[in-house]
Amino acid sequence: MNAHDTIIILDFGSQYSQLIARRVREQHVYCRLVPCSTPLDEVRAAGPKGIILSGGPSSVWAPGAPDYDPGILGLGVPVLGICYGMQLMAKLMGGKVERGAAGEYGPANIEIIQPDPLFLGCEPTERVWMSHGDRVSALPEGVEPIARTPTVEIAAFADRRRKLYGVQFHPEVSHTPRGETMLRNFLFRVCGCRADWTMSSFIEEATRQIRERVGADRVVCGLSGGIDSTVVATLVHRAIGDRLTCIFVDNGLLRAGEAEEVIRMARDEIGLHLVAVDASERFLARLKGVTDPEQKRLIIGDEFVRVFTEEAERVGGARFLAQGTLFPDLIESQSAFGGPSARIKSHHNVGGMPEWSQFELIEPLRELFKDEVRELGKELGLPHPILHRQPFPGPGLAVRVVGEVTPERLAILRNADRVVQEEMEAWEHYQTIWQSFAVLLPVRSVGVMGDARTYEFAVAIRVVTSRDGMTADWARLPADLLERLSTRIINEVDGVNRVLYDISTKPPSTIEWE
Ligand code: XMP
Repeated sequence: MNAHDTIIILDFGSQYSQLIARRVREQHVYCRLVPCSTPLDEVRAAGPKGIILSGGPSSVWAPGAPDYDPGILGLGVPVLGICYGMQLMAKLMGGKVERGAAGEYGPANIEIIQPDPLFLGCEPTERVWMSHGDRVSALPEGVEPIARTPTVEIAAFADRRRKLYGVQFHPEVSHTPRGETMLRNFLFRVCGCRADWTMSSFIEEATRQIRERVGADRVVCGLSGGIDSTVVATLVHRAIGDRLTCIFVDNGLLRAGEAEEVIRMARDEIGLHLVAVDASERFLARLKGVTDPEQKRLIIGDEFVRVFTEEAERVGGARFLAQGTLFPDLIESQSAFGGPSARIKSHHNVGGMPEWSQFELIEPLRELFKDEVRELGKELGLPHPILHRQPFPGPGLAVRVVGEVTPERLAILRNADRVVQEEMEAWEHYQTIWQSFAVLLPVRSVGVMGDARTYEFAVAIRVVTSRDGMTADWARLPADLLERLSTRIINEVDGVNRVLYDISTKPPSTIEWE
């Protein structure tokens, strides 16, 4: 039985599938995004109040196009098909789907030709976003067109008796201004959902589920000090108290003062039972002589698993491992079509364990998006610095010391990075920044200090704005801030006589240098 009214979204591979889930969640309605290969029985067993069929890149007529059991329309549950989802519905119902001569992409105006609960609160003509090749050209009896565009006769249809709806356009994107109204209408008027998905109800349920699952056993959790692992640890701690042991691995690749700060915060502010391990020497020993970025990442990931496993064994008796897998991570790994996208860098997330690990996993954030995790952290009362901490890569400063990682180079980078952190945090627009850090280049250049010639390293400063880390732009910092950064780094950091500002965007560059 579901504690919340649930919407099931069947993912047919649209780039917007996650966005549909976001939009539903924004209305405080619980939803799950599942691959379109999910068997009908499983969908039925989830007891949904409504089903949404996403768009997808295929044509319903393409060989091997993702299909679905027509039984989906006979569950007695309202269904909304979007784009490909609409065409698939029309096909399953016995309507006609035609190959469009030319696709229709971008803005269009729909004319609402029948009043319908789906369009309550809409104007007779509404702007929508289209992105399709095929189109529905005929509908079976009992199903009526409810909107059209100058080029598409059936831009939306309804079988009001069975509460089956199809829309050719994308109500989930912001370019369909009244899309939110339409989705709300579907959720609340057609499906009769309650808006009962809130963070406090999430916390209550998650803690209850963790308690039930763990029973009298023990749990370990890797704590990095980042928001995801801290939220997981806090949540599990709420559920089972000190039967949770957090393990913090200092890999020697953290920023100045970071290890001390994570330990202090976890123990003193949150009250976690924390084992802190200084494994710096082990990591640095394995990184000796390594210059290839991928090699560095793989070594650090591998060493983390070793250290963590040893420590977890030392803690003893833990049956479960809690980790901060998020909703987008899951979607990527179970993508309906061909799995994760091309691997640009091997990402290593602290706490991420390989499949051979003996632990049973607890992943309480697997339903959440990143910004929901922040909201959850706030609700859990986490300190402000954690909630607003910039992302920091698992391999740490190793991917910011370009070339070989040595203790000397790390020390130089740490000092330069400390200046960047101080100056940036004091800047009035700091909150607009996604990440700001220093990078140590394997380049030395000639300078003059006092009357003497110097031959020292160059440091690059990277400051970017971004929404989600997928794309990024360099921040237009004021000249006086750049000047302070440069002057302070050159004066305060031994071994550096030149500072550069990185003005590359992502793509084609990446945020980190390695
Ligand atoms: P790139 O360099 O790929 O980085 O543009 C995008 C975002 O991801 C962070 N990043 C990582 N995060 N483990 C992480 O948890 C990693 O291995 C890793 N590598 C990059 C990076 O800091 C940026 O926010």
